[in-house]
Amino acid sequence: MQLIPISKPSITPKEIAYVTDAVQSGWVSSLGKYINLFEKQFAHYCNTQYALTTTSGTTALHLALISLGIKAGDEVIIPDFTFVATANAVKYTGATVVTVDIEADTLCIDPKAIEAAITPKTKAIIPVHVYGHPANMPAINNIALKHDLFVIEDAAEAHGAMINGKKVGTFGDCAIFSFYGNKIITTGEGGMITTNNQALYERMHYLRDHAMTQDKRYFHTEVGFNYRMTNLQAALGLAQLERIDEIISNKAQIFTWYQQELGNIAQLQLNRTANWAKNVYWMVCLEIAGCSEVDRNQLMIKLKEHGIDTRPYFYPISDMPMYQHTNTPVTHDIYQCGINLPSYFDLTQRKIELISQTLVKIVFD
Ligand SMILES: Cc1ncc(COP(=O)(O)O)c(C=O)c1O
Repeated sequence: MQLIPISKPSITPKEIAYVTDAVQSGWVSSLGKYINLFEKQFAHYCNTQYALTTTSGTTALHLALISLGIKAGDEVIIPDFTFVATANAVKYTGATVVTVDIEADTLCIDPKAIEAAITPKTKAIIPVHVYGHPANMPAINNIALKHDLFVIEDAAEAHGAMINGKKVGTFGDCAIFSFYGNKIITTGEGGMITTNNQALYERMHYLRDHAMTQDKRYFHTEVGFNYRMTNLQAALGLAQLERIDEIISNKAQIFTWYQQELGNIAQLQLNRTANWAKNVYWMVCLEIAGCSEVDRNQLMIKLKEHGIDTRPYFYPISDMPMYQHTNTPVTHDIYQCGINLPSYFDLTQRKIELISQTLVKIVFD
């Protein structure tokens, strides 16, 4: 029996042609035309002035944080419900991770919870656009303005998502994206930072390349990093970016098919979308009312026995031993009863019917 995976990339002759061209050009490392093209086109897509490639979404977050001067003694507010990279990148800088609760309907950071967590040490907020739904950036930016805080959007899972018609990646001081293999578009591993701040862009560019001075090659004035993407990855990324509208519209179609199958069952809740948001449905989300973590894990095992792969919702960051425990009731309520269903580009309506019918049988029999 072949497992229906949760995700797999959509690779067409365009991706193969661009990567082949990059390999054949001999520019296999971090110089080459695809790096510049990918950065330029990505900035154009997001409608920002600058875009900077990195080796991953995690290193993009780290680079953004250190370039903004975040350091030991500072506090950075993040949602308790996110992939661990959001927290780890803060930890790398020596700053303290402060996790706060989310809103049940968007699964994104709750602006009221941010305000309650601000102290004199707070320096930045990292809202996360979880599973393709944007966080409430206008409310978050108001808080940041009032308290003089930096905002880094974690858009790792939400390329193309919008708030009142404006794309994510444009709301904070900067934003990061991931191009890991399961993301909306992929470069294998890879990341991007978008910003409209020239000084910040230049600082990030400099630190990304071992902080090498412009005028003296191989002279370095501080400890920098090698967070450079390769031309091969950028070739793949550019091909994917040229197809992003098609990829996002497929994601919407996949969600609609699930909705047709599961949307009218009272105990089951699929992704909700705020009326101001464009959700890109990176992952189809399913919450089962009243389901415990044990029941949820059992369901996932049974689905796998039927050839259907799923994944659990993120565990609360504050339950992990490296981070401080916090009181986040919405996160703690929701994570237990949530799974992500297969959401990949080529998924057919027939397969979605099969997945949905199998799921309903297991849950309600
Ligand atoms: C919310 C979030 N932030 C950051 C990352 C880190 O991205 P990467 O895996 O490219 O390092 C991911 C993805 O994996 C993510 O989902």
